[in-house]
Order: sequence, then structure tokens, then C-alpha cells
Amino acid sequence: MITKTVSDSMHKDIEAIMFTKQEISQLTNEIAARINKDFEGEEIIAVIILKGSIMFAADLIRCLTMNVKLDFMQASSYGSGTASSGVINIKKDMDSDIKGKNVLIIEDIIDSGRTLSLLKQELQSRGAKTVSIAALLSKPERRVVEVEVEYIGAEIPDKFVVGYGLDFDEKYRQLDYVGILKPEAYM
Ligand code: PRP
Repeated sequence: MITKTVSDSMHKDIEAIMFTKQEISQLTNEIAARINKDFEGEEIIAVIILKGSIMFAADLIRCLTMNVKLDFMQASSYGSGTASSGVINIKKDMDSDIKGKNVLIIEDIIDSGRTLSLLKQELQSRGAKTVSIAALLSKPERRVVEVEVEYIGAEIPDKFVVGYGLDFDEKYRQLDYVGILKPEAYM
């Protein structure tokens, strides 16, 4: 018997698939291989940025070979212009003391760069030994603030993408692929 899932009804809102489940898995493996090489024999604290990164984070950490501790944050940026004039709004903070630790921020997407730039500065100011970022996707055309992202899965054009954690109005996160949303679904 074929059971219809909730996500079946969401497929009709998708214009095109950008990354299939298999392609995401490939990108994740490539990122993990680099992290495993860079932090071989060390411990890292993986900071999962809620909510969009949960799927990527869950898959990525399963490919990591060093000791990994998990923590969670929820943050956004407000203010305009450059990183120095922006303010980070930490809605949920992590529990860990990161002083002297290797921190790996896990994000689903980097867009303007404001959130990650401020977050990186914030975690560096807490005395972390290293703060690196792993983001599955990046939209370089949208960048307003330069931020060094050590591990990027793929650079994508400025399209409205959803799925695999990414939402529109909290919807579509549960899709197991990344797809381009039809304009009529959000306009
Ligand atoms: C998204 C994404 C990043 C941020 C990137 O989160 O997960 O945190 O936006 O944008 P920026 O580069 O322009 O700062 P969002 O605020 O949509 O929250 P969510 O993860 O809960 O969906």
C-alpha cells in the first residue's frame, strides 16, 4: 500500500528541484571529508543554528569522525548595512562554555551574510579556540557583509529555495530535497 505523505501535497508548489536527496548527500560527504581532515584527533562543538539547519546538521554530524559535542542556537540579525552596524538577536543561546574549544557553526544557507558574520564574531569573543562555519548553500549574489565560510556545499543563484530544512513561512522544511518555490506560492 502506498501511503500519501504530507509532503506529497507540497511538491506541486515546486518549480524545479535544485538538489536531490542524493546530491545533498554527496555535498554533505564532501564537506565532512574536509572537516574530518582539518580536525583530525581534535574535539569540536557543533553549534546547530535553528531551525533551518537541522536536517543538514543531522546528516553532517553522522559523517564526522572526531569527538563531536552538540549545542544549539537560534539567532537572527537586525539593523542594516555592514556587520559593524548590525545587531545580533540571540533568541536561544547555547549551554556550552566554548572557551578554548573548536566551534563549528552549522547553517543551512548564507544569504546577506549578516547573521553568520555577527555570530562568528560573538563566538570568537567568547574565547573559542577556532570558529568555523559549515553551510550547505550560499547565495553569493545576495552578500552584503563579507564573512569567511570555511565549508560551503554549493553556491546557488538568487532563487527562492525551500526544503531540507529551508522554509517559506515555516512550510516546506520537511521536503527531503532542495527545490525552487513557484512564485505563485509566495506572492
Ligand atoms: C536563515 C538561515 C541563516 C540566515 C541567513 O535563517 O538559516 O540563519 O537566514 O541569512 P543572512 O545571511 O541574510 O543573515 P532564518 O532567519 O530564515 O531562520 P530559520 O533558520 O529558522 O528558517
